[in-house]
Amino acid sequence: MGKIKIPETMTVAVLNAYEGADAISIERRPVPKPGRDEVLVKVAFSPINPSDLATLKGHYGFKDPTPIVPGGEGAGEVVAAGPGFMANYFLGKKVACAGWGAGGGVWSEYVVKSVKGGVLPLKKSLSFEQGAMSIINPLTAMAFIDISKKGAHKAILLTAAASSLGKMVNNLGRKEGIQVVNIVRRDQQVELLKAQGAEIVLNSNETGFEERLHDVCYQTNTRLAFDAVAGELTNQVLNAMPQDSKVLVFSALSQQKVQVSPDQLIFENKMLDGFWLGPWMSNQNVLKIIQLWKRVQKQIPNHLKSEVRKIYPIQEVKEAIHEYTRQMTRGKILLKMS
Ligand SMILES: NC(=O)c1ccc[n+]([C@@H]2O[C@H](COP(=O)([O-])OP(=O)(O)OC[C@H]3O[C@@H](n4cnc5c(N)ncnc54)[C@H](OP(=O)(O)O)[C@@H]3O)[C@@H](O)[C@H]2O)c1
Repeated sequence: MGKIKIPETMTVAVLNAYEGADAISIERRPVPKPGRDEVLVKVAFSPINPSDLATLKGHYGFKDPTPIVPGGEGAGEVVAAGPGFMANYFLGKKVACAGWGAGGGVWSEYVVKSVKGGVLPLKKSLSFEQGAMSIINPLTAMAFIDISKKGAHKAILLTAAASSLGKMVNNLGRKEGIQVVNIVRRDQQVELLKAQGAEIVLNSNETGFEERLHDVCYQTNTRLAFDAVAGELTNQVLNAMPQDSKVLVFSALSQQKVQVSPDQLIFENKMLDGFWLGPWMSNQNVLKIIQLWKRVQKQIPNHLKSEVRKIYPIQEVKEAIHEYTRQMTRGKILLKMS
């Protein structure tokens, strides 16, 4: 990659209050300088994820005082390095960067990131577009399969299954011989997943859904569920599964509180827990993370690929968010940083 001239100022999307997309302004700010063990990344693309929407409303796990720069992940090129061997190693490399930790979100033309967890090297053959979506969903899909295998589950249940993540979990499930019981909320999503090879897809808005779900869970011996919706659906899922089952809630797309009947917990020995990628990764050893990252990159062109619906310049971030929220299933919206 050629030497890039670093400008004095850059374009940044700034969230001024936890009030959603309308509270975002586009600003010019000085380009930050990397310190020890830090690199400066010229960000190429960043997706809009459900976690970004939650962040904009102050409903995510991080809630720094505003103004903040949002953007949970992205990809770009390292164009400057602070002192330190690792920082120098990354200079000129294509990287995926995480929006968490020091340096903040990545909806910014340039971002400073720590080499200790803030950037991950990307294979040259991967596009910046796919690289920008290589951390959150691909690693979560890998984590779900890892958790399922550790518990010797031959079948798992997934809600909001027509999502980008859902398609990845289905692809990996097929590869690993794990049956996925998919729950979606519309008939078009049933057709979409079936066209992609899913065998079991139920529509939660269809009459008789709960009875059908119960039958399917017993027939397939599904005792582990990953729930992205929360609200009443969590209870329906927990009720449908056999004794000793567990639901891991990993998002709250319904924006409702989880509802659970205490009988299920007390008399059926069922369990309810949460999943968040960051802490899950922190609990893995370095060797495992390196292996996971290698596998993710290898599988991004096929099993872990994200569909892109449209690319917007960062200046049009508000329109991009409105387009994304109109219907999330139709693919990811990417923000182009410059
Ligand atoms: N905890 C973690 O560490 C972690 C990590 C990765 C992802 N996640 C979560 O995983 C989920 C999927 O992420 P993604 O990036 O793959 O999403 P995505 O591709 O943007 O798709 C979102 C999906 O959710 C559906 N949906 C939205 N609101 C819903 C509701 N109230 N009830 C049922 N379905 C609903 C959408 O359907 P429509 O088209 O009908 O809107 C769409 O199919 C998100 O909730 C995200 O926050 C969590």
